[in-house]
Amino acid sequence: PLVTTKEMFKKAYEGGYAIGAFNINNLEILQGVVKGAKAKNSPVILQCSTGALKYAGPKYLRAMVEAAAEETGIDIALHLDHGPDLDAVKLAIASGFTSVMFDGSHYDFEENIRKTKEVVEYAHAHGVVVEAELGVLAGVEDDVVAAEHVYTDPDQAVEFVERTGCDSLAIAIGTSHGAFKFPPDYEPQLRFDILEEIQRKLPNFPIVLHGASAVDPETVEMCNKFGGNIANAKGIPVEMLRKAASMAVCKINMDTDLRLAMTAAIRKVFAENPAEFDPRKYLGAGRDAIQKVVEYKIENVLGSANRL
Ligand code: G3H
Ligand code: 13P
Ligand code: ZN
Repeated sequence: PLVTTKEMFKKAYEGGYAIGAFNINNLEILQGVVKGAKAKNSPVILQCSTGALKYAGPKYLRAMVEAAAEETGIDIALHLDHGPDLDAVKLAIASGFTSVMFDGSHYDFEENIRKTKEVVEYAHAHGVVVEAELGVLAGVEDDVVAAEHVYTDPDQAVEFVERTGCDSLAIAIGTSHGAFKFPPDYEPQLRFDILEEIQRKLPNFPIVLHGASAVDPETVEMCNKFGGNIANAKGIPVEMLRKAASMAVCKINMDTDLRLAMTAAIRKVFAENPAEFDPRKYLGAGRDAIQKVVEYKIENVLGSANRL
């Protein structure tokens, strides 16, 4: 069924695992994700950015996700990813989303609190939970571009959660969006000291990690082998993500890894079968690739198998 993340996060926190939040934009991506979750008997969060809402339309997304919940019987939360303002939140809630993110991370502290609080009041009145964000991830968040990380300050996080009443908090500890998270010769690192301090100061409060794709080198290589040109891609090491999932992190966001896997699979079909023009052949291969990624994540990153 379609559920909020409330129970999911409570169980994940207590069990030392995390729920995967995968971005969906069309039928094949959605089916790949839920087939993977179903195969591993895992709850899952399907999230749509404002770009996804524009691309596929909220009504289509909601109807497809409802069908997925009915078909699989697993617990699915439908979440607005990086909601930019109250209007986006209202649209998502009117469209049947069970969870929303308001991303006020680029505002100053007081403005972020004020706007988040407004969203929390609206969402809670509609039975919907709210993810907020404090701290800035380097890279691109929809239309917002940040040159450098501004790591989340643990004391500010405590004050922010108390004053806004948000249900979960996305923090900045060194992850970033997209396929180029670190320079090629740079040893990836995350600020686990900050995560630990936040966990200590906000016990039992669910933390969210954005920009958490691992960027598998073999998948990038496969894209390039079959005509792609993706240079210097680098993600978060799987062991670090697993460690975060065992701590206060209850939701791990991944989109780039799905994009890379789908693209590699489709490129392979095109390269090996130039005469093929049935979309089911290449989109089907993309869907299968996404399912594999999701199963791998559930086993090796999230630890959410058999947690339904
Ligand atoms: O955080 C960003 C997600 O990867 C969604 O990306 O805004 O291009 O849909 P998008
Ligand atoms: P990646 O780009 O690392 O997959 O992050 C996705 C994300 O944070 C969506 O909100
Ligand atoms: Zn994000």
